[in-house]
Amino acid sequence: MKSEDILVIGGTGKTGRRVVEQLQNKGIEPRIGSRSASPSFDWDNKDTWVDALNGIERMYVTYYPDLAVPGAKEAIESLTYLAKELGVKKMVLLSGKGETEAEACENIVMDSGIGYTIVRASWFNQNWSESFFLDPILSGEVALPMSDVLIPFVDVNDIAEVAATVLLDDSYNGEIIEVTGPELITFKDIVNIISKASKRRLNFYDITLEQYIEGMKQMQIPHDVVWLIEYLFSHVLTNPKNQLVVNDIERVLGRKAKTFSEYAQETSETGIWNQVSVT
Ligand SMILES: NC(=O)c1ccc[n+]([C@@H]2O[C@H](COP(=O)([O-])OP(=O)(O)OC[C@H]3O[C@@H](n4cnc5c(N)ncnc54)[C@H](OP(=O)(O)O)[C@@H]3O)[C@@H](O)[C@H]2O)c1
Repeated sequence: MKSEDILVIGGTGKTGRRVVEQLQNKGIEPRIGSRSASPSFDWDNKDTWVDALNGIERMYVTYYPDLAVPGAKEAIESLTYLAKELGVKKMVLLSGKGETEAEACENIVMDSGIGYTIVRASWFNQNWSESFFLDPILSGEVALPMSDVLIPFVDVNDIAEVAATVLLDDSYNGEIIEVTGPELITFKDIVNIISKASKRRLNFYDITLEQYIEGMKQMQIPHDVVWLIEYLFSHVLTNPKNQLVVNDIERVLGRKAKTFSEYAQETSETGIWNQVSVT
């Protein structure tokens, strides 16, 4: 396998950049698929897709922003069709646990005739340090609905290691690998763990989903982002399929998945939670 045969779509994102690092550690320099890469790949501009996929044999696909948004299924359908036409032999799709729309995208890949592995993830730990839960942590005031729902938060480093492994190893072809953390925890637990790890006082407020949505609108968060977050809370978080720990990370990597406390300790050492809030 030549280095340039592998494409990582979203290769500068939360999981993608770690998949790139995993491959580089094995001496493979993959092509990155993103708007800032060269050649550039833009989900919103199909004219960029052929150059990005040309000559590629294996690819890791993360859709931005989420497989649940309108238009995602059509984009995955077109990309998969093009991949087959251009001779791609293996696709690893990052999907979300308990998302009906994501499962529709999985089915497109599974029915394509291309070798595939689906990596189906629960909510990421790194949402608290690299995504939408970081700002409330920095402000010290965390107000969230559904504070007692049990969630098997998973570390993106574990997801990336699994994704890189199955991308290179065809013995996982045809499988759906469910990546979850090793424990079920609540938002309240998480805020306590981050508070202890970062040695900062964090106030937690249990609010309704309606109050949460209203708060985002008042902060003038874009309509499509509010829609996505409302969808994730009302359809994904509460789905009983998501409230289960699965040991696929251990099965693939031969070691236990990272706990939220381990993630919090490592992340606090980077200083990210001790920055001054800008909001
Ligand atoms: N967050 C969670 O808890 C969670 C849980 C389960 C599943 N998921 C799934 O994870 C996927 C996202 O993966 P991720 O978190 O690893 O990625 P991410 O960090 O959300 O994505 C950022 C990457 O996407 C690229 N990008 C942004 N807009 C783009 C566009 N229009 N065209 C092409 N590339 C674009 C960015 O590069 P450029 O800016 O250079 O383009 C960057 O490489 C989603 O499909 C979601 O369904 C997330």
